[in-house]
Amino acid sequence: GDWQIERIVEIDSTSEAWKRRQPAHGAVLVAERQTAGRGRRGAPWLSEPGAGLTFSVALRPPEPKALWPRLALATGLAVAEALSRLGVEAEVKWPNDVMLGGRKACGILVEAAGEVAVVGIGLNVNATQFPEGIEASSLKLATGLEMDPEVVLLAILVALKARTAEIGAGFPELIRALRQRCYLSGKRVALKTPSGPREGVVEEIGAGGELVLKTEEGLLTLLQADEVRVID
Ligand code: BTN
Repeated sequence: GDWQIERIVEIDSTSEAWKRRQPAHGAVLVAERQTAGRGRRGAPWLSEPGAGLTFSVALRPPEPKALWPRLALATGLAVAEALSRLGVEAEVKWPNDVMLGGRKACGILVEAAGEVAVVGIGLNVNATQFPEGIEASSLKLATGLEMDPEVVLLAILVALKARTAEIGAGFPELIRALRQRCYLSGKRVALKTPSGPREGVVEEIGAGGELVLKTEEGLLTLLQADEVRVID
């Protein structure tokens, strides 16, 4: 098939494992537990064993590496679409968090390691409790139903195949679909940029996948940003 799925009970991080091993395109590593799961900006990624889906996918995209950053957008969209197909309405918080009912339910970390792009996905499936101070959601909290992580994994992999194939010529279509699931559209946000903190109202996602903000000083286009915070 398209994907080779390997399972492990415990590992430091599925993404670190794939960065070390540099497997073939389509290798998927699913872990029950990570002892050193990582999020963006070096933050730890915690997940309750059995309550989440924790996996990394190795891709060797045919497109030039300059286009690899688009994989993060493609993955967020793919996860949101897979969840919608399972009956859970999901949105993408640019660049790549997946939101259920306004709360984050899935984090995505895309890293390049040599010739391999490692796509790491952590999704709260049946979790109902989170560490103090963390406002998150899960499929179970959003629907009231327990879901089979296996079914969710396969749905995500189907969507991921289709959307990651669009980082080249198919990108306009990807962006169209992303705009329709854009959690941030019309919201006032505060964010950190390389040139300091900024605030504005989100206009749209631009043709190159950038976030376009209306600020007091005019339109601001962001290629990437840390910690986009909604302030309405
Ligand atoms: C984020 O929201 O900051 C990204 C979180 C990414 C977590 C996933 S879980 C599977 C893979 N292994 C890791 O160590 N991180 C990613």
